[in-house]
Amino acid sequence: MGSVIRAFDEVESTNTLASEWINEGAPHGAVVVADHQTRGRGRLGRTWIAEAGLNLTFSIILRPDLPFDRLGMLTIAACTSVARTIERFADPLQTSIKWPNDVYLGGRKMCGMLLESSWNSPVRNPAVVLGIGLNVNQDEFPEEIRENATSLLVETGRVVTRAELFAALLSDFEQCVAMIEEDPERVRNDYAVKMMSLNDEICLRFAATDRSVKGVVVGIDDSGAIVLDTSSGRRVFHAGEVTRAV
Ligand code: BTN
Repeated sequence: MGSVIRAFDEVESTNTLASEWINEGAPHGAVVVADHQTRGRGRLGRTWIAEAGLNLTFSIILRPDLPFDRLGMLTIAACTSVARTIERFADPLQTSIKWPNDVYLGGRKMCGMLLESSWNSPVRNPAVVLGIGLNVNQDEFPEEIRENATSLLVETGRVVTRAELFAALLSDFEQCVAMIEEDPERVRNDYAVKMMSLNDEICLRFAATDRSVKGVVVGIDDSGAIVLDTSSGRRVFHAGEVTRAV
């Protein structure tokens, strides 16, 4: 991971550049990193806001030997890697993961991920872009995200050298991606241990339809989907937003 890197001062979105690089034949593990994004994208059509020069915003190109329906395990592995790496830098603080791919520190979000693929058919070996935004040394956040956003600096009071954190993260993630094929159960277990709301009742909301389902979180399956015990039995969901049950 990261043996080939394209680094920029400012881009619209590293995910966009990474997608373009795929068409030029970028290898597995190639990385696009930028000091600042002017149009960073988040999940569910949201924007990703991060101040210039203080954070990590990057995209990794992956060509995993995985069937299409298991690509979700890439974000599961990435979350686990981010959570583990952050804990090394935030010792003794503990991270937690909000399914599917938000990493929290001190009860607020410090990292989000966006997996994008131009494939929509069930092929093997598709190339995908995994974009990661990690708040490192930013200590103030705009009004619209202030309540739920945090950074390593805010939580630990320590400034972290971004290059060191980045290198540690890429190295951990490389091992974790290999583990998806070698020992997927271990990846799932490492994720579940950090999973927010495990064994709790939650509400899973579907933005597109404005519907939701209530259930107790059992864990994730081998595609990275969330498994809930609901009033109509055990059910598996590939998308949705976890919110508190009301
Ligand atoms: C989310 O939590 O909604 C996902 C946020 C993903 C942000 C990262 S920053 C690097 C990469 N480029 C983007 O435009 N988005 C991702």
